[in-house]
Amino acid sequence: MTEPLLSIEDLTVTFRTRSESVRAVDGVSFEVYPGETVGVVGESGSGKSVTMLSMLRLLPRTSRVITSGRALLNGKDMLRASRRELRRIRGREVALIPQDPMTCLDPVLRIGGQLGEALRAHSSVSRDEQRKRAVELLASVGLPQPDRQYGQFPHELSGGMRQRVMIAMGMANNPSLLIADEPTTALDVTIQAQVMDILREAQAETQAGLVLITHDLGLIAEMADRVVVMYAGHVVETGEVNAIFAKPRHPYTVGLLGSLPQTGGDQDWLRPIPGSPPDLARIPTGCPFHPRCLHSHGREICRTQLPQLTPIGSDSTHRTACHFSDELADESIHGLLTVAQEIQ
Ligand SMILES: Nc1ncnc2c1ncn2[C@@H]1O[C@H](COP(=O)(O)OP(=O)(O)OP(=O)(O)O)[C@@H](O)[C@H]1O
Ligand code: SF4
Ligand SMILES: [Mg+2]
Repeated sequence: MTEPLLSIEDLTVTFRTRSESVRAVDGVSFEVYPGETVGVVGESGSGKSVTMLSMLRLLPRTSRVITSGRALLNGKDMLRASRRELRRIRGREVALIPQDPMTCLDPVLRIGGQLGEALRAHSSVSRDEQRKRAVELLASVGLPQPDRQYGQFPHELSGGMRQRVMIAMGMANNPSLLIADEPTTALDVTIQAQVMDILREAQAETQAGLVLITHDLGLIAEMADRVVVMYAGHVVETGEVNAIFAKPRHPYTVGLLGSLPQTGGDQDWLRPIPGSPPDLARIPTGCPFHPRCLHSHGREICRTQLPQLTPIGSDSTHRTACHFSDELADESIHGLLTVAQEIQ
C-alpha cells in the first residue's frame, strides 16, 4: 500500500492567553495520499486553518501556542523540524495557497521577481532559465499574456489573476503536497470555477496531494476524494466523498448537508444548524456537539463521554465520532433531523 504523504497524528493546538486557554485543535488525525484531494469542512472557528498552519509551522509567532502530536510530511515530523529544515521543506515539498493572495504577494515586487525568488530558493538556475520557467508557469495557470504579467505588479492584476499567480508560485517547485485554504472565496463564481480547474490540472500533472479547506460543500463534492469534517477542533466524521454525501453518519454532517442551498421554488434557501459553535475556551463536556445536537435527545452519555472516531461496520475508511451513529444508518432519520432544523 502507498505510504501517506501527510500523516497528522493526534494533533492538539492550544492558544494560551493570560486569562484562558483556547483548544483550537484537539486530537486531530488524518492522512493525505499522493494524488488525492482531501476536503476539510466545518463551520467558522472549527480549527481547519489552525490544523494546517500548525503543521506548516506558520502560526503567528506572537501567539503563545502549545502543540502536541505529530505531523509527518514524507516521513518527517514537521512539528519537530528545525527552522532550516522548514525552509527547505516549504515550497519544495509543501506549498500553501492562501485565501487572500495579497497577504502573501509583495506589493512592491513585480510578479516575475516573486516567482523567480520562489524558483531560486530551491534550485540554481540561470536568470534566463528562470524567466523562461516563470513565464511557462504563468501560462500554465491560464494567465492571458504571461510575458506581460511577468513584468506587472500585484495591484495591476485582478483577484482571479492574483490567485492564479499564487497557484503558479505554489507549483513552482513541484511540491508533493498543496494546501489550499479557501482559495476561491474572494472570487466571483465563474472565476472560482476556472481557478479550481487550474488547480486540478496542476495537481493531475504532478500527482501532488491536495488539502482543500472550504465552507463550500459543492466544491468538496466536485473536487474531493475524501472528506474530513471538523467541529470545535475535533474530527467528527471522515470518509470517501460519496459515503459522506450519501450516507452521513454524524448528526453534524447531516446538519451541514441540510444547510446546503436547495435550488427550487422561488429562491435558494438555507437551513442553518441550530445554535452556534462553542466557545473554545469552554468546550462542552462529553460530545462537543451535544448542546446543538438534534439527535442526542438529552441522553446522558452525550453529555458525559467524548465519542471516539470509530469505523462504520467493515468500511474502515468511513469513521464517525457519535455514540449513536448506528441509529443514523436508517436514512429516514436524516429527513427528520433536517425537518427538525427547519422548524427550529
Ligand atoms: N492566533 C490565534 N490566537 C488565539 N486563538 C486563535 C488564533 N488563531 C486561531 N485561534 C482560535 O482557533 C479557532 C480556530 O480557528 P481557525 O482559524 O482554525 O478556524 P477555521 O475553521 O479555519 O475557521 P474559518 O472557516 O473562519 O477560516 C478560532 O476560533 C480561534 O478561537
Ligand atoms: S454523541 Fe450524542 S450529542 Fe454527539 S453527535 Fe452523537 S447523538 Fe449527538
Ligand atoms: Mg480558516
